[in-house]
Order: sequence, then C-alpha cells, then structure tokens
Amino acid sequence: MGIMMMLFGLLLIIVCICSALLRWNQKRYSKKGLPPGTMGWPIFGETTEFLKQGPNFMKNQRLRYGSFFKSHILGCPTIVSMDAELNRYILMNESKGLVAGYPQSMLDILGTSNIAAVHGPNHRLMRGSLLSLTNPAMMKEHLLPKIDAFMRSYLSGWDEFETVDIQEKTKHMTFLSSLSQIAETLKKPEVEEYRTEFFKLVEGTLSVPIDLPGTQYRSGIKARNNIDKLLTKLIQERRESGETYADMLGYLMKKEDNRYLLTDKEIRDQVLTILYSGYETVSVTSMMALKYLHDHPKALEELRREHLAIRDRKRPDEPLNLDDIKSMKFTRAVIFETSRLATVVNGVLRKTTHDLELNGYLIPKGWRIYVYTREINYDTTLYEDPMIFNPWRWMEKKMESMSYFLLFGGGVRQCPGKELGISEVSSFIHYFVTRYKWEEKGGEKLVVFPRVSAPKGYHLRVSPY
Ligand code: HEM
Repeated sequence: MGIMMMLFGLLLIIVCICSALLRWNQKRYSKKGLPPGTMGWPIFGETTEFLKQGPNFMKNQRLRYGSFFKSHILGCPTIVSMDAELNRYILMNESKGLVAGYPQSMLDILGTSNIAAVHGPNHRLMRGSLLSLTNPAMMKEHLLPKIDAFMRSYLSGWDEFETVDIQEKTKHMTFLSSLSQIAETLKKPEVEEYRTEFFKLVEGTLSVPIDLPGTQYRSGIKARNNIDKLLTKLIQERRESGETYADMLGYLMKKEDNRYLLTDKEIRDQVLTILYSGYETVSVTSMMALKYLHDHPKALEELRREHLAIRDRKRPDEPLNLDDIKSMKFTRAVIFETSRLATVVNGVLRKTTHDLELNGYLIPKGWRIYVYTREINYDTTLYEDPMIFNPWRWMEKKMESMSYFLLFGGGVRQCPGKELGISEVSSFIHYFVTRYKWEEKGGEKLVVFPRVSAPKGYHLRVSPY
C-alpha cells in the first residue's frame, strides 16, 4: 500500500512538472501577434510528434489552427504555411527577408558558399553560375551526350541478375551520372573514393549537428573534408596540365568568357551542391516512376509506345538528343505525376532575417518558415481524384504553369536543375522500358514519410523486352 502511494505521488509530481513545462514553453512563445499553434516541450518542441505522425501531424494542426500556425519542430520555432497562395508569396519574396533556412548540419557540411547558405548578391553569383551550367545549350552540347552514354552502359545486363534492387541502383545511378557530368576524366578508383565519401556526407546532412566521435554529423564533416581534398587535387592537376575540359568542372574553372568567376572554395561548394541537390530528387523519382508504371499497365503501355517510336527513328547507337527528350511528352507527364503523388519534396524551408509581418501576424527574426507544399498535391479543388495516378492530367500544357505548381519550388530559388533532372529520369526510363520488362519480387513496403524510401529495398525481376 505504502509503495503504491509513493508511486502515485511520484506520478503526480511528474505529471505536474510536465504540464508546468508545457505551459511555460507555450507562454514563452505566446508573444502578441504570433499565429496560433502549440510549441510542445522545451528544446524538443513537437519534433517527436511530427516525425511519428508524419503528414497527419500537419493535417491535425491545420484542422485546429488553420493553414498558418506555429510549432517547434526540428530544433527551431517554426511557422508552418500550408496555404497555396501564401506559399507562393513567401517563395517570391526572398528580398523582403524570407531567405532560405536549411538545417545547420546541412549548411555546415555543404559549405558556407553553398547556394542554400547564401542570399542576396552571393546567391545571384552562385545561382547564375549554376544556371550557366544547366542551360539548354549546355544540355544539348555537353550534358545529354554524357547522360546518354552513362545510362546506356549503366542499364546493360540487368537481366542477368536474379533480382535488381531498384532503390540501390537508382541511387548509385544518380550519383554516378552527376559525377560524370562534373568531371568526365575520373578513373574508376577515384569515382569509388568520391562515392564512399558522398554517401557518408548525405547521412551527415540529415543528422543532428552534434560534433562527437561516432556521430553521423562528425562522419559527414569528415567526408566533406575528404571530398574537398579530392577536388583540390583534381583542380590542381587540371591547372598544371593546362588542358581544358568540356565538363561542369571545366566550365567552373574557365577564366575567359565566364561571367561567374568563382574562388576555388566556391567551386568546391558548387560541385557539392550539384551532386547533393539532384541526388535524392532524381533517384527517388526514378524509383517511384517504375513503381507507378508497374501498378498502372495502361500508363506503361502508352509510355513504352512513346519510347519505341523514338528507337524506331534512330540507329541503335545513336544517342538521345534534346529533341528526343522534348518529344517525350507522356514521359514528362509520368514524371510530374510521380513527383506529385509520391511527394518527393514535402516542402521547402525559409527563415526570417528580421521581425516581419506575414498574413497579418508578426513573425520574429530568426524563426523558420516551413513552406509545406505536400497537401497542395492532394487538394481536390486543384486535382481531380488526386489520390489516383493519372499522368494524362499533365498532358494539358497549362498544368505546369499553374500558380500552385511548386514541385520544383518557385521564385528566385526555383530549381535550376529542373530540366536536367527530368532529362536524367527520362533517359533512365527510356533505356529501362525499351530493354526490359519486369515484375516485382513482392512483399516490400515503400514508405513516403519523412522521406520516400523502400526500407528493405525495392527488388524487381527483370527480363529482356
Ligand atoms: C526531379 C528532380 C528534382 C526536383 C523534384 C527538384 C526540386 C527542387 C525544389 C522543390 C527546389 C526548391 C528549394 C527551395 O526553394 O529552397 C529545388 C532547388 C534546387 N535544385 Fe532541384 N530538384 C530536382 C533536380 C535537381 C537537379 C538534377 C539539380 C542539379 C543541378 C538540382 C539543383 C537544385 C539547386 C541547386 C537548388 C537550389 C536553388 C537555389 O537555392 O537558388 N535540382 N529543387
């Protein structure tokens, strides 16, 4: 009886402390003018609830507080915006103090000149430089031939394996394809060095920034330093050789006719930006496109018809060119529908550079704004039967220019790799569907939150088409 009383007393004390902490934390952030919402626990906020409940957390909070509410997630006081028009306004108004606000671990590892870490004139420099690498002329002359050569070779012999893990394959494919566009001269052992370090670096950017031995963050920082060493050596060797190269690094290092002259550190950060930004987006879209095509035979039939027609008008060894990619109208529609339905990008992050008024509320300096675009993708007023995979909806050209279309972001940070990414996924699909037919090994789960992934892989049995 005595022990029961003691336990009951202890429990009561814990409940009292917890509720006092919650109230104290809520009060701390109840400054006049802030939008409604809950702030959770001191330090941890509502991160656990957010990660556990995923999109339902956002939906529940929206039901309680509307489309613009406060919370404390991923280590920061945050405003979540789920309003389509407001989201667009935020993305369009970086100059009013709504700059990119990505997590510290990501910025530490990707570098201080990384495009997501800079704003104003520095952002214009890094972005201008990047756009000059991905413009249509570069795509036509240099990038597409490299992508084609890479995909042709990477996608050969898959029918010799009992099963192919598409998740692993598309990840490696995206990284290797990107690296071949950056530096075409790398030998296999060097590529392997980059690859090992890059995968550690990616894990580090998604971790809590605790710099202790054994943490993913520490390993990410180390990987970043190792990639810096590899790049410094490569740049040095290229300079000493005096030769010029028609790859991305070659263009970044060019001194003549280059409007965007970068320092060596900026060049290294830019290279990592290219490798990193296109990595998860392109690999996940490629994997999920195959998943949806597998589940929707009619869409696969139409898509395959498009690709076989391209093959029919070309010699077997003739590479895909810009006109071929442009002619892949249905494939483009499949890619958009895949990105929409699988929601490869849930939203983008911004932060305030000073106290500012937004949507009638006062947002303090340094708060993060989560421009949460996920739910727009499933809005019944914007997309008919939004939960159904229907690539035909994108065949109307105007769909891509709708103001709520934010799959590739918007405003001054709209994705500069959009057409490059679409070309990579399209080339992958081209060689896959014209060479192979496939069935699922079966029984494997694909999860969509916090990241779209197949926790145990996505295995296919592949045979010649
Ligand atoms: C299917 C593929 C892709 C999707 C869905 C995608 C999506 C996005 C989105 C939503 C943003 C906006 C981020 C923000 O506003 O903070 C963005 C920005 C960006 N993307 Fe992509 N992306 C893709 C492929 C690529 C590729 C292949 C590259 C390689 C060059 C790339 C490079 C970038 C960069 C550097 C930014 C930051 C731009 C800036 O801050 O000015 N993306 N992307």
